[in-house]
Amino acid sequence: MITISKMNLDDLNQIKNILFSDFDDFWNYSIFKSELENSNSYYLIAKDNSKIIGFGGIKVSIPDADIMNIVVRKNYRKHGIGSFLMRELINFASSLGVKNLFLEVNEKNSYAISLYQKFNFKEISIRKNYYNENNAIIMKKEI
Ligand SMILES: CC(C)(COP(=O)(O)OP(=O)(O)OC[C@H]1O[C@@H](n2cnc3c(N)ncnc32)[C@H](O)[C@@H]1OP(=O)(O)O)[C@@H](O)C(=O)NCCC(=O)NCCS
Repeated sequence: MITISKMNLDDLNQIKNILFSDFDDFWNYSIFKSELENSNSYYLIAKDNSKIIGFGGIKVSIPDADIMNIVVRKNYRKHGIGSFLMRELINFASSLGVKNLFLEVNEKNSYAISLYQKFNFKEISIRKNYYNENNAIIMKKEI
């Protein structure tokens, strides 16, 4: 059964050594840890029974929040887990009083862009060469 819950440091320690291999997240452990300890950050994890199969987080400054990342374990992708996490992040943000959700995505990351478009995020600006030679697309959704 797939469940969603709040992420804590024990959860992060469970996936510490497989962050790159199994999730290909671009954050290293220490940056992630300090994010988790930030009182304005909220992370959710998806579990298949006890196995962590995805995570996503927001950083809140009411009435705004940024989606910091959303990552699904490689062999669990394309099964709706990213959408499940996104739905829960949006509901969670809304429960905190967030009105505007922002995110930034590499223009070449078409899977992530499709996920965001599915949830009606709209492009509001471009940051040129933000990821070296690639642009960043800034997207927004009012909730
Ligand atoms: C982006 C990511 C989180 C999507 O997770 P996922 O569990 O595969 O997403 P879902 O199965 O819920 O798919 C959501 C939508 O994304 C699109 N999509 C995702 N993977 C796709 C693929 N391989 N091919 C085509 N479309 C894809 C589809 O539009 C899909 O909508 P649908 O359900 O109507 O088909 C996942 O690919 C991932 O972890 N990528 C690496 C990390 C990353 O780049 N994160 C974003 C920046 S932090």
